Amino acid sequence: MNPLRTLNRIFHALPINLALIIMCVLWIVPTLGLFVTSFRDREAVRTTGWWTIFTPQPVVGETEYTTYCASCHGAKGNALPQANLSDPAIVNKYQRDYQLLAYLKQPINGQPHVQNPALPGNPNQSLPILGKILVYMQKLSSGGAKGPSLTLSNYVDALVGYKGTNSYLQDCASGNTAALLGLNCTASDLTSPAGMGIAMLNSIIVTVPVTLLVITLAAFAAYAFAWLDFKGRQWLFAILVGLQIVPLQMALVPISRLYSAVGMQSTFLGIWLFHVGFGLPYAIYLMRNFIGSLPKEIFESAYLDGANHWKSFTTLALPLSVPAVASLGIYQFLWVWNDFLVAKIFLTSHPVLTVQITNLIDPRGSNWNILTGAAFLSFIIPMVVFFAFQRFFVRGMLAGSVKG
Ligand code: HEC
Repeated sequence: MNPLRTLNRIFHALPINLALIIMCVLWIVPTLGLFVTSFRDREAVRTTGWWTIFTPQPVVGETEYTTYCASCHGAKGNALPQANLSDPAIVNKYQRDYQLLAYLKQPINGQPHVQNPALPGNPNQSLPILGKILVYMQKLSSGGAKGPSLTLSNYVDALVGYKGTNSYLQDCASGNTAALLGLNCTASDLTSPAGMGIAMLNSIIVTVPVTLLVITLAAFAAYAFAWLDFKGRQWLFAILVGLQIVPLQMALVPISRLYSAVGMQSTFLGIWLFHVGFGLPYAIYLMRNFIGSLPKEIFESAYLDGANHWKSFTTLALPLSVPAVASLGIYQFLWVWNDFLVAKIFLTSHPVLTVQITNLIDPRGSNWNILTGAAFLSFIIPMVVFFAFQRFFVRGMLAGSVKG
């Protein structure tokens, strides 16, 4: 091979490759950041960026603690049993650095607790140092976590819908039931109405029947449009395709009024019907193009052999259109799973994942770390669905573009 030509080829492909790389980076970096953040604890999320987990970080206050306190209290804070600094009950007595300063000024056994000169500068200047020591003491008392520690607490908090200021696991461990707001640290918390567990169940209850119904109905209709001869077939199909331009938002008010008139508001049946109704036009269009592009001869020979429509539908049309069914299935599944608006309006008493995520965050937004876990919880199932069917996906995407 001519080396010049190879070089030429590489340079020609360069812009495309570069664009691809940039696109991948643009997609992957924020997702990776979110993913990493979802494993960091609340304090870490609030104070440092996610990228800091890749570089060793000095632990706040560790050097100050070793210089001024470790000689008596020990590196782990538990050398003095009466003053066990790794005990949360003791540390909580000194929420602020001036409280600690006041304590340190009291003599112990006739000796100054910490000689004032040992802390540099005047007592007021020593406050920042004490602040750092305090942070370190808090670290010690919360299990001696040092450096970047990864936890599942965001996931657990999201799963049970914890809204306190700490984390569910910590509050359960310390028996702080007041902060748990109705949760009781048993397995039943997994189904707490404010959590993602129950929301995931609701999402599945909404999504799976809708997807199955849309696929089944669309396959029937598509077969009819493609191979059944009846009057006005083209017109009906044109109207159906045209129906896709009706915006979903337009139907919200009339249909919710209709639902409340017949007592169907906030029922699963209501949302199933709505999603199926709005999913069908496109689904029929896609399936009809695929089934219609299957070779005519096989159907004709099947009819000649005496097969009726039902038989040729189940034994020919359906098996041959598996790629289209799979891609339609993925599409429909993701569409309904990610829907927020319809679920928010038609299913108020059974929040699905997308709706529950917005319920999770407290009004001041101080617990946004929980959203990272919630986000990943909400796309576990779509990911599974996607990877299970993705080998059909590319083939199915071409459905309708292939002429028979
Ligand atoms: C000279 C040794 C010594 C040094 C240095 C020292 N401590 Fe102490 N500390 C003690 C002793 C002894 C006690 C136990 C007092 C008692 O029995 O109540 C104590 C108790 C405490 C308590 C109170 C615990 C309680 O029961 O409420 C805190 C808080 C504390 N120390 C923080 C610090 C900090 C922070 C530093 C570093 C700036 C430090 N100490 C340095 C000896 C020391």
